[in-house]
Amino acid sequence: MAVLNIPDLQKQITDPKEIRNFLEARGVWFDQWETPAELAEEADQETVLAAYAHVLKPFMEKNGYQTADVININSHTPNYEAVRNKFLSEHQHTEDEVRFFVDGQGYFWFNLDNGKDPIFNVLCQAGDLISVPANTRHWFDAGKENPSVKAIRIFIDQSGWVPHYTESGIDQKYNPA
Ligand code: LAC
Ligand code: NI
Repeated sequence: MAVLNIPDLQKQITDPKEIRNFLEARGVWFDQWETPAELAEEADQETVLAAYAHVLKPFMEKNGYQTADVININSHTPNYEAVRNKFLSEHQHTEDEVRFFVDGQGYFWFNLDNGKDPIFNVLCQAGDLISVPANTRHWFDAGKENPSVKAIRIFIDQSGWVPHYTESGIDQKYNPA
């Protein structure tokens, strides 16, 4: 279940409906799906995709998404610090970034109005489905220690997901060192 945090206002939202409304008002689509699959820590991409094909396929067909892959980060992930750093700097993509969290958790940070609307994060956990709109500033943190997250990423075209870093440095104000 997601938790939404607005650090500068010391505000937290835990009610799923309120989280959805907050995000919807800002153009961020959010939903929650069931995640009954028992997945091994090192479950491979095919296994994870197959476990959720019944919900993914209709969703992808309806919305024109062409491909999906899986990120699986855990305590055995080699070079975790480098992996974490790749997502930890503020960036944008030319297409929506859609993720379905099936296990573990991570923080999605949003800087939607380039500082005019307060920066917030959504702690995404199993069942949370979120779409970061194209060309919006965001970053992602799976945590400094003991990372654990499995998420399905859904694309129209994988090339649209190349991160374009803003180099604003704003993320450093919010990320735990
Ligand atoms: C990405 C996320 C982490 O671009 O923002 O994959
Ligand atoms: Ni991104």
